[in-house]
Amino acid sequence: MGNFLAGKVVAVTGAGRGIGRAVALAAAAEGARVVVNDHGVSIEGSEPTSSVADTVVKEIEAAGGEAVAVADDISTMEGGQRVVDTALASYGRIDGVVCVAGILRERMLFNMTEQEWDPVVATHLKGTFTLFRAASAVMRRQGSGTLIGFTSGNHQGSVAQANYSAAKGGIISLVRSAALGLHKYGVTANAVAPVARTRMSANVPMELKEIGEPEDVAALVVYLLSDRAREERITGQVYTIAGPKIAVWAQPRELRAGYAEGAWTPERIADFLPGTVGVDPMPLLEQLEAMARAAADQARPNA
Ligand SMILES: NC(=O)c1ccc[n+]([C@@H]2O[C@H](COP(=O)([O-])OP(=O)(O)OC[C@H]3O[C@@H](n4cnc5c(N)ncnc54)[C@H](O)[C@@H]3O)[C@@H](O)[C@H]2O)c1
Repeated sequence: MGNFLAGKVVAVTGAGRGIGRAVALAAAAEGARVVVNDHGVSIEGSEPTSSVADTVVKEIEAAGGEAVAVADDISTMEGGQRVVDTALASYGRIDGVVCVAGILRERMLFNMTEQEWDPVVATHLKGTFTLFRAASAVMRRQGSGTLIGFTSGNHQGSVAQANYSAAKGGIISLVRSAALGLHKYGVTANAVAPVARTRMSANVPMELKEIGEPEDVAALVVYLLSDRAREERITGQVYTIAGPKIAVWAQPRELRAGYAEGAWTPERIADFLPGTVGVDPMPLLEQLEAMARAAADQARPNA
């Protein structure tokens, strides 16, 4: 056992499987007392069971750590509150929350139903809000704490997961808002965009060139929860971790601007915009077009 998180109390959602489980085990191994939350659902979010969270608590205890299970659904306000209340009731404080819980309901936008949209946005985006909301009220009084949201490279856009992509983009804005709003109370907020082998990544229809294990992601999360990251004043950041690679994402900012002489009209904009302000090419669209060209080449009879 290390002591990177000695004395800290950390709550992890979606901690029963995959990345969340690795985060919970690593945090406990580094000295944290851990609230293990998992609703124990299928990849689409159905068939809940409490045994998934209980199993991880037993693993932590078997390794000599301290943990308590909460099987609630974190897409409800009560669920998020219960996770934080359990930390306070069991251990008297909350130093970090890590919102890892997630589900997938893949469908092209033109076929997507409300039942495919709502639960995905509720689990990822609202499920981060419910924890951040409950924990930040306590952290503000404590004058310290760390909030961590889970996003995805997919926040750039997605062909068949518009619900998931929109929720992941929302999580980044929520994290940046938390970083801004809680800065003066000594609370930090960051987001992690992982790429790791789990049941969820096994569902990705294309080969992932850069991928690692849930334990790689857990190492980054432990660091972000630690005083070492607080000393570096790391807040409002989005990090990708994919096996050996760690990357930081750019802050959104205006790329180029132009100014009208007099009022804008559609005609003036049509003359002005293409040659001056222009566009910022979309990397994923270029990748899609390259894939389509490669597929067309392959399909040629003499390829
Ligand atoms: N695995 C990857 O490569 C990858 C890539 C990008 C983003 N992510 C994100 O990382 C996170 C973890 O993904 P994973 O691959 O470990 O997935 P996973 O399916 O292995 O684990 C997700 C866990 O969340 C739990 N959960 C789902 N809904 C819940 C709810 N309402 N309340 C409480 N628990 C709930 C599930 O029971 C499950 O145990 C997700 O947010 C995912 O979107 C993963």
